[in-house]
Amino acid sequence: MDSVTSLDLLPGWPFARLRIAEDGRLLQLPAFAPADFETHAPAYPPAGNGWILEPALRVIHANGDTSGDLRVVEAAQEGNLTTVVLRDPVYPFEVTLSFLAHPEYGIVEQWATIVHEEEGPVTLTHFASSFLTLFGDSFHLTQFHGDWGREATVAEEALGPGIKILDSKAGVRTNQFRLPGFLLSVDQPLDEEDGKVLAGTLAWPGNFQFLFEREPAGEGRRDRTMGVRTGMNPFGSEYRLRPEETFMTPRMVWCVGTQGAGEVSRRIHRWARTHVIREGDRVGPILLNNWEATYFNFDAPKLHSLFEKAADLGFETFLLDDGWFGRKYPRNDDTQGLGDWMPIQEKIGGTINDLALVANQCGVRFGIWVEPEMVNPKSELYEAHPDWVIVQRNRDYELRRHQLNLDLSNPEVEEYVFSVLDTILSESPNVDFVKWDCNRYVTQPGSFHLAPEDQSSLFIRYPRAILRVFQRLASKHPVVQLMLCSGGGGRVDYGSLAFAHEFWASDMTDPLHRVDIQWGYSYLYPARVVAAHVTRWGERPIKFGVDVALSGRFGVDLDLDQLSPEETETLRRGIETAKAIRDVVQLGDQYRLLRTESCSSVMFVSPDQERAIVFVYPVADSPATTLRLKGLLPEAEYDVREINGETGFAPERIRLGDDLLIPARPAFASLVLELEAI
Ligand code: DGJ
Repeated sequence: MDSVTSLDLLPGWPFARLRIAEDGRLLQLPAFAPADFETHAPAYPPAGNGWILEPALRVIHANGDTSGDLRVVEAAQEGNLTTVVLRDPVYPFEVTLSFLAHPEYGIVEQWATIVHEEEGPVTLTHFASSFLTLFGDSFHLTQFHGDWGREATVAEEALGPGIKILDSKAGVRTNQFRLPGFLLSVDQPLDEEDGKVLAGTLAWPGNFQFLFEREPAGEGRRDRTMGVRTGMNPFGSEYRLRPEETFMTPRMVWCVGTQGAGEVSRRIHRWARTHVIREGDRVGPILLNNWEATYFNFDAPKLHSLFEKAADLGFETFLLDDGWFGRKYPRNDDTQGLGDWMPIQEKIGGTINDLALVANQCGVRFGIWVEPEMVNPKSELYEAHPDWVIVQRNRDYELRRHQLNLDLSNPEVEEYVFSVLDTILSESPNVDFVKWDCNRYVTQPGSFHLAPEDQSSLFIRYPRAILRVFQRLASKHPVVQLMLCSGGGGRVDYGSLAFAHEFWASDMTDPLHRVDIQWGYSYLYPARVVAAHVTRWGERPIKFGVDVALSGRFGVDLDLDQLSPEETETLRRGIETAKAIRDVVQLGDQYRLLRTESCSSVMFVSPDQERAIVFVYPVADSPATTLRLKGLLPEAEYDVREINGETGFAPERIRLGDDLLIPARPAFASLVLELEAI
């Protein structure tokens, strides 16, 4: 082996440069460090043999020893995939680090694979997907926190000495309080257009942890570097790894740029649409969902009426939400029936496929809501399988929304969850859309199935099982589109999105708040996957709700039978607009233009840059403002005209770099502008 071997994962980038030291240790040059920076950091430090900060890995060997050491035994680069095999010189324990680069997007995906040949199981207490070191004078962390109805709230802070952790311990519905990603701005606060930025997101529907640790300052210390450990949350998740098993971490996705947050967001959007999201290069359907229109109160005549009106207005898909199932315990509210996936005849008038056929005959496709990972204790499923739930066996069980989580660490339950959907879809070939809901997190993590010494692997086995279920369903039912939902945006990770087309961003559909929620998601997710529906929440003007929904995957949750003639025409026009612009919004590049107390503005530019759509959302009375448009062709002149209604905006012509004057506007007098190159 050469004394120091270089492995540049993204050639030419200030990021992900590995070195193999003479003694075989794998080192990294901190991201954004100058090329001649001498001090290398370990690339994947194990605990227990010299390293005293947070480790990438901590293992308790079969004999109880707690010391880890890893030396490179093999390193290979094949195309964009770099693989480094590390082995402990003393124990038969091996970690393979994999790095998959996507140079055109400034993206590297990283994961670790752990195997061993010790005499019995080893226990893994820490198991990072990635351990990255950054170089800089200051580090500003942007996270996206929240709760039900307040998802993706942007918050930024400068990181000081010590440790900062962003995580989820919810087990399931893990994004209820935080998106599984962040942005780090180096040397300055996060700016939309300027500065070194690193975005990270973990492709994993389970617990995650992002840990940031500034190196201790002091003489001879690396006080300008910071370690970032990312991966599954080690909290409550010690994993006994048997000699014959392979332990693979989820992928950590890194995206790097030097031109601010906007650049890394657009890079992630393009990469995700091209390489991750199922059919990410196809626009989503214009959808009518009955949840906020009817809640649990519907019957076949009501649904038929909605189908007819939906078809007349130009909707493409009708989505039947919660409340269509249950036998002994009909699901007429959320207290019972969950788990009993038999249609209620009186409510849907036949089989699911009979109903889907009626929808198709009216002229709309048909989708259905399910929540197969959950059960109401008041259900036939629970009566038959009380040991299929996640609870602590010696305690009273704790209900959330009157329901319990099913234990997907049990292969029998995993098979059942798959079969729920597989049966519905196999028996109902006219169903081509599914909304997969998941309305509670885990508060008593215990499994009747797992052995005592494996109980703490529940948080790892469950997400692995759910991903397998998603994968099997996607391959067996390839034409069925999938919306992820989790009591709003509780499941939005790129691991799940590999098998899904979109996610329900939030139950908060008041467009006033949706503007902010969709803004927050846009840092890590393209508009293609952000389901955005018009409802009556907030009692805002319908046109404002339509304009806000037009900047995501457009849909509606209104009772079409209750609309006034004016509202009907506003919706009809909104649907026509959605059809005309969705290719630009969902498949184009997004620019966040403006966010003040009174007004937000976002812009989408088509891949050929010939067309663009600008949304202006006054969330309060808003003074005149200028917008600096972005992403346009440098040489072209564009016609600017208002679409989706006439609010008095005078058309004009504009070039890249010009300011576009938006006159003062009252609250909610939103504006949609279309730009076309002349
Ligand atoms: C929570 C979801 O976020 C809603 O959209 C709706 O599907 C309900 N569950 C149904 O119970």
